[in-house]
Amino acid sequence: MKNRPVRSAKRKAVKKYTPRKDELKNLADFTSKNPRPSLCIGKGGTLLYANAASLPIISDWGKKIGDMVSREWGELIKEVLVSGIRENVEVECSGRTYSFVMVPVKKASYVNMYGSDVTERKRAMERLTAAYAQLQEAQSQLVRAEKMNVIGTLASGIAHEVKNPLATISQGLEYLSKNINSKDENVNSILNYMEDAVKKADGTIRGLLDFSRATALDIKSENLNSVIEESLSLIKMQSEKSKTTVVQDLDKNIPQIEIDKSRMQQVFVNLFLNSIQAMPDGGELKVKTYLRKLVKRSVIGVASPGVESAIEIEEKSIIAEIVDTGKGIPKGIADKIFEPFFTTRQGKGGTGLGLSIVRNILEMHEAGIEIKNKEGGGVRTTVIFKL
Ligand SMILES: Nc1ncnc2c1ncn2[C@@H]1O[C@H](COP(=O)(O)OP(=O)(O)OP(=O)(O)O)[C@@H](O)[C@H]1O
Ligand SMILES: [Mg+2]
Repeated sequence: MKNRPVRSAKRKAVKKYTPRKDELKNLADFTSKNPRPSLCIGKGGTLLYANAASLPIISDWGKKIGDMVSREWGELIKEVLVSGIRENVEVECSGRTYSFVMVPVKKASYVNMYGSDVTERKRAMERLTAAYAQLQEAQSQLVRAEKMNVIGTLASGIAHEVKNPLATISQGLEYLSKNINSKDENVNSILNYMEDAVKKADGTIRGLLDFSRATALDIKSENLNSVIEESLSLIKMQSEKSKTTVVQDLDKNIPQIEIDKSRMQQVFVNLFLNSIQAMPDGGELKVKTYLRKLVKRSVIGVASPGVESAIEIEEKSIIAEIVDTGKGIPKGIADKIFEPFFTTRQGKGGTGLGLSIVRNILEMHEAGIEIKNKEGGGVRTTVIFKL
């Protein structure tokens, strides 16, 4: 049958093969002429052999046969000899990368190293990894944009439908509170509960409308410090109630910026309220503004990858920094806080729309935001406006 080895009945006596002298020389040349680098390094790290292709590497090391390569190499060779297991190492030389497989020859106490130039493969791999990361980023942006679109449409639809009946209920409750004459004590407290519930629902609806509002911005040249001061006055009641000390460190010399004042107030009010809510037993809310030349592009962090490209290296920017001494952002949720309806304040009036509104408004202004826990507790929020 074909493809089947046929065993001969009797094993023939094999004549021992002795290579000729020229054949021996060819065999010896085999390694030295190999276009791939081959090295042999002895137990203590001494370079015992290097073929022609590895000359650039050893000259880059500044070594010749018989030299000790380095202490690190000595240690690595020892490890490979002791373990008896092949190892792969990468060697950088004059902008190229060589991958070597280290083959221990235990009996002779040296390690043979067979290399190949993997520079192009590595570069291609790096390009591929970068392209993959970009693709993932683009995909998540698309998904986010689509999600926001759907939520926005849905939200504004529902909000409009619910807003008017809520207004009717609210007016009805007001009328009843004033005109009801009942001896039952529970009636008044039930009416109060109902009013609170309606207010809460109304707040949620307002948030939804804000979130889905895609109206054009009313851009004017404004002073950011004034916007911040006005926003602080809007939350004065809450900050006093929660015993929050407000500290202002606003740089008078920052230039005017082009923003929609009322939308920007919304941003700061949301951020201030988040800080106040994170300090239920009081604390310090510090607001600072300053002018800065951005030195790196790490600006947006988790906030809004879409905006990242809007802020270039070395661009001048105005920074508003809000620092609180609250409990900080709980572990593991940092990448979710900007998602619509994400809240850790369920049952405490949190709709989870605050930061998604903040993000939308800042994106419309091509501004960036970064929210991070700071060392020693609390949160630092950085809002960046490019000039
Ligand atoms: N300064 C902060 N300190 C601690 N956690 C914060 C801070 N800012 C935001 N967070 C966290 O991010 C979550 C989302 O914030 P976001 O403003 O979107 O919603 P919310 O404050 O929970 O609800 P809403 O803003 O609708 O009242 C919060 O529930 C909280 O867990
Ligand atoms: Mg909030």
